[in-house]
Amino acid sequence: MNNLKRLKEKYTLITGASKGIGYELAKIFAQNKFNLILVARSEDKLAEIAKELIEKYNINCYIFAADLSSLDNVKKLYNKVQNKGLDVSVLVNNAGFGKLGLFHKTDIETEINMINLNITTVTFLTKLFLQDMIKMGYGKIMNVASTAAFQPGPYMSVYYASKAYVLSFSEALASELNNSKISISTLCPGPTDTNFQDVANMKKVKLFESEVMKAETVAKVAYKGLLKGKRIIIPGIKNKLLATSSKLMPSKAITEIVKKLQSPN
Ligand SMILES: NC(=O)c1ccc[n+]([C@@H]2O[C@H](COP(=O)([O-])OP(=O)(O)OC[C@H]3O[C@@H](n4cnc5c(N)ncnc54)[C@H](OP(=O)(O)O)[C@@H]3O)[C@@H](O)[C@H]2O)c1
Repeated sequence: MNNLKRLKEKYTLITGASKGIGYELAKIFAQNKFNLILVARSEDKLAEIAKELIEKYNINCYIFAADLSSLDNVKKLYNKVQNKGLDVSVLVNNAGFGKLGLFHKTDIETEINMINLNITTVTFLTKLFLQDMIKMGYGKIMNVASTAAFQPGPYMSVYYASKAYVLSFSEALASELNNSKISISTLCPGPTDTNFQDVANMKKVKLFESEVMKAETVAKVAYKGLLKGKRIIIPGIKNKLLATSSKLMPSKAITEIVKKLQSPN
């Protein structure tokens, strides 16, 4: 059986699949006949999406409603997947959020939840499902970071640092698994039109005033990159340039540019 067929017949688990980039990814995987496990907190929304995708594309689709900022829920999710006998061949760690504000004024509980969701859960789910993929002998993981991963982000310090972790962690795993049949990709989108800005309270910052990408476009680029096993996927020329210039410019200079772009009005 060829590799693609095997990936499709098992299950693709997508976190944060109820809206935004995760929802667009779910649609593309379904169109391409991948069986799905969709995870987010909004159960009704997930049920609606599953119904739509099953009817349109005749795939198997399970949903799990859970708040993934709790490690207990991450363990429950893994156990449920195991108990149902579902093998996960593709894992997309997409759920995540940010929050704008000066660090000394923002709410620490929100930031701890952010670290749990953006870092700890990504690490835990990667560990659990990667061990299963090693036993199966193949698989693909895509962790969603951001162009925020390439430099510090004043007014969003914890979010930027969390995405730098995701990029560093995933690139290291990609190297460990070099020459195996398991690929690890990191998706680094730039500003994208989703619910993210509302949650982050950053609708009015300069960064989102300029052109933003459509979630559908980001998902299409991500899907192609994942199947090719690309290590870092950066959708859009502007975002690619930003990622490159972040590496070339002195850290202080690039940090001051980001500060201007994210200054709350
Ligand atoms: N939009 C951007 O500009 C942008 C840029 C770079 C990177 N990203 C990254 O892209 C990823 C997807 O974000 P998006 O832009 O698509 O944002 P979004 O529209 O807000 O979607 C976020 C998804 O994550 C889920 N989620 C949030 N908190 C959760 C929790 N505690 N437990 C389980 N699920 C949770 C949400 O569903 P429920 O609310 O139903 O739980 C939703 O499905 C994130 O990792 C984000 O950091 C976004």
